[in-house]
Amino acid sequence: MTLQSEKLPQLGLAANATLKASDALFQRARQFLAGGIASSARSIVTGPAKHPLYITRGRGSRIWDADGHQFVDYLLSYGSVILGHADPALGQVIKSQFDQGTMYGTCNTVEIELAEQICRMVKSAELVRFANSGSEAISGAVRAARGFTGKSKILKFEGHYHGWADVLAISNRPSPDEAGPLEAPHSIPHSPGLPQGVVNDVVICPWNEPDILKAILDQHDGQFAAVIAEPIVANNACIMPRPGYLEFLRQQCTRRGIVLIFDEIVTGFRTAPGGAQQLFGVDADLSVFSKALGGGLPISAFAGKRNIMDLIGANRVKHGGTYNGNPLCAAAALHTLHTLAAPAVLDRIRRAGEAVSEAIRRAARDCRVPVVVQGLGSMFQVLFTDRAPVHYRDLKLADAKRYAAFRYALLQRGVHCNETPFACWFVSAAHGPEDVDLTVAAVAAAMKSIAG
Ligand SMILES: Cc1ncc(COP(=O)(O)O)c(C=O)c1O
Repeated sequence: MTLQSEKLPQLGLAANATLKASDALFQRARQFLAGGIASSARSIVTGPAKHPLYITRGRGSRIWDADGHQFVDYLLSYGSVILGHADPALGQVIKSQFDQGTMYGTCNTVEIELAEQICRMVKSAELVRFANSGSEAISGAVRAARGFTGKSKILKFEGHYHGWADVLAISNRPSPDEAGPLEAPHSIPHSPGLPQGVVNDVVICPWNEPDILKAILDQHDGQFAAVIAEPIVANNACIMPRPGYLEFLRQQCTRRGIVLIFDEIVTGFRTAPGGAQQLFGVDADLSVFSKALGGGLPISAFAGKRNIMDLIGANRVKHGGTYNGNPLCAAAALHTLHTLAAPAVLDRIRRAGEAVSEAIRRAARDCRVPVVVQGLGSMFQVLFTDRAPVHYRDLKLADAKRYAAFRYALLQRGVHCNETPFACWFVSAAHGPEDVDLTVAAVAAAMKSIAG
């Protein structure tokens, strides 16, 4: 990436930056797009400006907004753009597949190669099916688990996010007054419009609490088709599993004949070539992948044990989709996975992220601001609190307003990260020493500006 040779526009928002272009685009968007946005997650503000930033270009680790400000990007489309924006080699792969046609609605060779590559990288993946978004692949995995067991209840952890589809859009972020007791959390629909029957089938459990998990499994003994978890809680302050917790989960599911599903939509191919299950040494029965899988193109997959996936293979459990395994996205994914299979690439990403995480901790210490940075180098979150959360309910201890001030102070200094206080920062293979140095300086100055 030869950014030095480019004429650098403004890095970050100037002290009294005008965001005229973003503002005008938002006003225009609101006339024809519901709420002016294409996803509920994008209903965000930019410091005092009551509209999101419109990004018009990305290259490597950098993005540019419609007003010409440049940022080092740690959102990376929620971790999807793991090779960096507009990666030239990925571009060539996409172009050459485009020249052969984008999709035929038929079987194709690229989908075979991609399935083979996933099974090579993920130990528990014996058979694969493709879909297009995380939510879709989650629905496929849950249906496979229900078809396999003949049962309908799913155990979901409070605060874990498994997509916007009805099947699991429950207790994503319940408010304290509706969440119920820790030992028996209520199942709270994330949105109006969810059928009560679906909600009733999802039993909620707090994360990282083995005794409560066991009690809930006992209480509904023989009724669960699946337990589903984000092995690292990407959508909940990057909470790590307590030592031994994933092993306990595995053991309980095996003992009770429950399908264990790992939602590796964020962690897959990012935390290790074989995902979080390789990192922690705990295999799932079914796993769901997206984000890093496509390197920025829309593709997802669910994969797992042959005896479960065979039901889909035999067409007893149905799974379809016009765009499934389309060669354009599959070729992009194949290239991305080949790149990430080389341990040096993930190692480089991890080291860059660790340098940034450490800089945030150092800046917080220097300014005497209570901060916890948790997660791994390649994905982490910054919490303004003095106590690392163990599960969703601990997040009320973190100061979300201070995070918002920190984020805006970073935007002013050329660093772009997730607006949601409990989601993650992500690092890509394109983040180099220059990005890290710039970020370290921005973090120190931003922390100073919000201290006191
Ligand atoms: C862990 C996890 N699961 C599922 C999803 C849903 O994926 P999608 O937004 O592609 O439907 C997301 C999206 O952020 C996610 O982070």
